[in-house]
Amino acid sequence: MSGAALIKPALNAISGVNSTTELEALRVEYLGKKGVFTEQLKTLGTLPPEERKTRGQELNEAKQQVSNAIDARAETLKLAEINKRLETEWVDVTLSPRAKAQGVVHPISKVMDEITAALAQQGFAVAHGPEIEDDYHNFTALNFPENHPARQMHDTFFLQGNGDNKTLLRTHTSPVQIRTMQAGKPPFRIIAPGKTFRCDSDITHTPMFHQVEGLYIDKNVNMGHLKGCIEDFLRAFFEIDNVPVRFRPSFFPFTEPSAEVDIGCSREKDEIKIGAGKDWLEVMGCGMVHPNVLKNCNIDPNEWQGFAFGMGVERLAMLKYGIPDLRTFFESDIRWLKHYGFTSGDAA
Ligand code: DAH
Repeated sequence: MSGAALIKPALNAISGVNSTTELEALRVEYLGKKGVFTEQLKTLGTLPPEERKTRGQELNEAKQQVSNAIDARAETLKLAEINKRLETEWVDVTLSPRAKAQGVVHPISKVMDEITAALAQQGFAVAHGPEIEDDYHNFTALNFPENHPARQMHDTFFLQGNGDNKTLLRTHTSPVQIRTMQAGKPPFRIIAPGKTFRCDSDITHTPMFHQVEGLYIDKNVNMGHLKGCIEDFLRAFFEIDNVPVRFRPSFFPFTEPSAEVDIGCSREKDEIKIGAGKDWLEVMGCGMVHPNVLKNCNIDPNEWQGFAFGMGVERLAMLKYGIPDLRTFFESDIRWLKHYGFTSGDAA
């Protein structure tokens, strides 16, 4: 093919492309090592010397023209692309700065974070479970016997179904113990913060509230470990080094022995001050995990033992931040939130 015959389709193609990538592909197609012109130039050797000269010249000129056209188009496309970016990526530097954030961190979120941080110091990882539970995980696997009064004490919101499969709103975060142990292999060291529900509403109860559950399973664990863990936690959480901690015998179906934990305080008029004083305040429940609970999770109680604990987040928040009324937590009163909320910059 003659050089002149090659030019026209090449120039047409060049003016037809609209991006630098397409243009680069054309450059390779025409001028590349295996390009149209290179292939044509290779055929020169087969021509008689006279013809070779004129044809060579003609091909080289055509190649030069195509190359120039590509360069020119590249320039135009580059400019167009820059202009397009300038149009779409501009920033209006005259806009006023962003307004200060209006929102605050709810005391419940804040205290959940603080509890998590204090227990993370002791190596506990966070686990989660569903808020819609079934009877098996909420009660049966936790060693609540059928028809045991402890089941009634939970004022459960039942949903659907029967027996172990009956769905309900979890009444505590303890079922996360079961889910964690059934899903993995010991040792375990987890906490489970979350929402819990009971059909109860008065000055000291709201139908939805929050708990943090703890579970520690390992070999040779005893009640001394439980005491140390809880004492360290409470001192870290309340930021009071010598806060007195007392363990009182109690009952929970899923722990044996079980205890309730009190911290020292003093009551002056309406105010409660945490720390050494003549009064005590109950803050959480705990105990050594019942062998039946371990067996329900296929864990051999002769090899593994551990402790569990559970605390109410609202109660701890009220005590730590002097919030007098439980129900105000969920009223969404903006004045209350402004007063008791935390800005995200507040130290944890
Ligand atoms: N689940 C109990 C409740 O809601 C709290 C609790 C007590 C959790 C003792 C525990 C525990 O893990 O050992 O009342």
